[in-house]
Amino acid sequence: MTRTQATKQFTATEVVLPGAVEPEGLELRRGPAPVPGGGQVLLAMEATGVSFAEQQMRRGKYYDQPPFPFVPGYDLVGRVVDVGSGDPHLVGRRFAALTKTGGWASHVVVEAADLVEVPDSVQSADAETLVVNGITAWQMLHRVAGVKAGQTVLVLGANGGVGSTLVQLARHAGVRVIGTASPRHHDTLRQLGVTPVDYRDPELRARLRQLAPHGVDAVFDHVGGDGIADSFRMLAPGGTLVSYGTASTRDVTGSSRVPVLKLFARLFLWNLLPNSRRAHFFNIWAGKRRRAGDFRTRIRADLAQVFALLADGTIKAQVAARIPLSGAAEAMRLAESGTVTGKVVLVPDRVA
Ligand SMILES: NC(=O)c1ccc[n+]([C@@H]2O[C@H](COP(=O)([O-])OP(=O)(O)OC[C@H]3O[C@@H](n4cnc5c(N)ncnc54)[C@H](OP(=O)(O)O)[C@@H]3O)[C@@H](O)[C@H]2O)c1
Repeated sequence: MTRTQATKQFTATEVVLPGAVEPEGLELRRGPAPVPGGGQVLLAMEATGVSFAEQQMRRGKYYDQPPFPFVPGYDLVGRVVDVGSGDPHLVGRRFAALTKTGGWASHVVVEAADLVEVPDSVQSADAETLVVNGITAWQMLHRVAGVKAGQTVLVLGANGGVGSTLVQLARHAGVRVIGTASPRHHDTLRQLGVTPVDYRDPELRARLRQLAPHGVDAVFDHVGGDGIADSFRMLAPGGTLVSYGTASTRDVTGSSRVPVLKLFARLFLWNLLPNSRRAHFFNIWAGKRRRAGDFRTRIRADLAQVFALLADGTIKAQVAARIPLSGAAEAMRLAESGTVTGKVVLVPDRVA
């Protein structure tokens, strides 16, 4: 198949975020599929998903989002339909890719070096739930906190996309997990082997102290804001705080950068204290520009491990809903409703 033959066959649909809008303000755009350049491939999307990042981006609140208008979509799973002048053996194979933006489209150009193969036995929607979420969860657990069997960790937002993956990986590693979530998610969390607590409980601190009197070995906190101090206080000596977001400031007006910079300053100061506890900010993109080769090797190795655990049934994909790409607004509303466990997945319209 030559590039010209392949791209002529496809009309692409993209979801465009035109500015800071409500979900209904998302626009659909149709046109010829993009053409892969040197080192790139064209993926026909089989599944993409709604991450918290898109909730922030539609408010103009994601730390380093591109200027409007743009196509959101943090990650996807798709099949190669065009390789340009690249390796023809890739055509027809199914891969996952981390994109940060651009995934909400029927056809997406990505760098061939960024592709991670999806095991044949795994459905695309299931694999999708574990791309950004699986990499984030795996790296925070094993590369940052370095958890060990027998330890206890606290996971905030344990029902979310990252949270529900993190708790499963932690349980698989032999770690005891306490997870915060609204009570409607507690039964699901118990089934995943998590001890759930309600983050709105006025007695939360006392409840956590009861569950872990000596503190916990790691806290995974994507909420940020003033509550991050409570997360740090929950650590046992030698424990690690892994901060990875500022969800609590999503609806605060003003600069998207100030809450993040305030958080960095706090973590920096805590690391200066002689208290044997560590505080990190995890950024999945760290090293991408300066050490691209190492970055890609890490992503591929870590996601391959997560996919292998999915393929052998050790962990379960948490697909909250499958919604056609043209229903991106509905998908976004659902993801923001606070009612879901896991990830809302967008699939091509013809599949839905
Ligand atoms: N640093 C990185 O490299 C990196 C990478 C990936 C993701 N992230 C961050 O990870 C976080 C989770 O992403 P996701 O895609 O998994 O999101 P998600 O599926 O939408 O889940 C969000 C979770 O956070 C809870 N939550 C939302 N706002 C909250 C608040 N103000 N206080 C307490 N809990 C709150 C939600 O609870 P309810 O369901 O009860 O509302 C839900 O459990 C986001 O902050 C995202 O930015 C960071």
